[in-house]
Amino acid sequence: MQHYDLVIEGAQVFTPSGIQALDIGIVQGRVETLGALSSTPARERLDAAGLLVLPGCIDTQVHFREPGLEHKEDLESGTRSAVLGGVTTIFEMPNTKPSTTTPEALADKVARANGRAWCDFAFFLGASSENAAQLREWELLPGCAGIKIFMGSSTGSLLVEHDADLLRVLRHGRRRVSVHAEDEARMRERKPLAEASGHPTAHPEWRDDISALLATERLLRLAEEAGRMVHVLHITTREEAELLGRWKHRATMEVTPQHLSFHAPDCYQRLGTLVQMNPPIRGKEHQEALWEAVQNGAADILGSDHAPHTLDEKALPYPQSPSGMTGVQTLLPVMLTHVLNGRLTLERLVDMTASGPARLFQIARKGRIARGYDADFAIVDLKKSQLLQRQWIASKCGWSPYEGQLLKGWPVHTVLRGQVVVRDGELQGAPVGQRTRFLDVPEVA
Ligand code: DOR
Repeated sequence: MQHYDLVIEGAQVFTPSGIQALDIGIVQGRVETLGALSSTPARERLDAAGLLVLPGCIDTQVHFREPGLEHKEDLESGTRSAVLGGVTTIFEMPNTKPSTTTPEALADKVARANGRAWCDFAFFLGASSENAAQLREWELLPGCAGIKIFMGSSTGSLLVEHDADLLRVLRHGRRRVSVHAEDEARMRERKPLAEASGHPTAHPEWRDDISALLATERLLRLAEEAGRMVHVLHITTREEAELLGRWKHRATMEVTPQHLSFHAPDCYQRLGTLVQMNPPIRGKEHQEALWEAVQNGAADILGSDHAPHTLDEKALPYPQSPSGMTGVQTLLPVMLTHVLNGRLTLERLVDMTASGPARLFQIARKGRIARGYDADFAIVDLKKSQLLQRQWIASKCGWSPYEGQLLKGWPVHTVLRGQVVVRDGELQGAPVGQRTRFLDVPEVA
């Protein structure tokens, strides 16, 4: 008789064939059996009666600030926040200090994460005009999630502004390139608007919808010329959502929970610089277009763009105040709340947080609950309603823009490759996160 390392019992399970009442038997970190396992021997059992097992969330846009800015976050605290929120894999961005623009900087991040990461991980390499020609080789390095381009400057110094440099980056390599699309030249011209206003309500005027659209249009033209697939991060405008909906042969798109949950000017009046981020949260008409893209399927995935800054830093006068907010821990409860409020289906949510990221980034063995796949689960209670409180936030910067909001649908247990890393909301054991493998980067052994 099969001996399981872990059996999860009594839950409803989100499988590729629909939600079913099943037990899950796990051997060596992978799903071995989906069926009735109440009398089968197992080293450990997890009673999940009344709960729903979802594929662990894959958040392909987080900023964990290590090395160099560890007063805001580090790989331990960031990944701890992740698993407490039902996120089992993260891809981390290169705008650390130093920026992740060399194989040495990438290997350093992988070494720092080993033994300290609570979830699985990969790191983006930042593109620059200096490293463009080497990216073809470097994007295949172990632990590399791919290449990230900042077309507009944000936190940190990474920037690839001009078409010639962008083309060189896009021509050197074959994996999907992730892009922050805002037009630097236009934003430089418009910065006085922000300075004159001194209030973050001006943020979507400084970094306006045309800045975003211009960059996305240029990017698509250059990607077509280079024959490269691109992934446009944190889409914010109606025009980009419509445009990208016509470019599925070349580009995919990400939306964030915060662009779906907040809108201008209300959010800036209520939350000030806390909701200042790049690209900005915009007005209701743009927010509705993003929801439409979620509902019609044109928006491929959700990413949290977890970008922590301390409350002291956020208290600087606008526009010296830094852009970005926490989000990796709240991604799932915020989006489950939207599901329970009827804004999207559970199927769409899982598509955008698990199977979608796995498809886009060619992640091996993740993104679905099926035999042979990694046993990565977010086990949630759809009946639990609770106010989001600051003390729940594990991020070093210790705040969330959702504080005080009633969220419905909460992560209870998190399982990473068969290990229960969060049980009843409490962290368990030691960090066991590993670097992610990719189907488009074959590795030996
Ligand atoms: O608001 C943002 N914050 N947008 C970015 O692109 C970077 C991020 C950060 O790292 O703070």
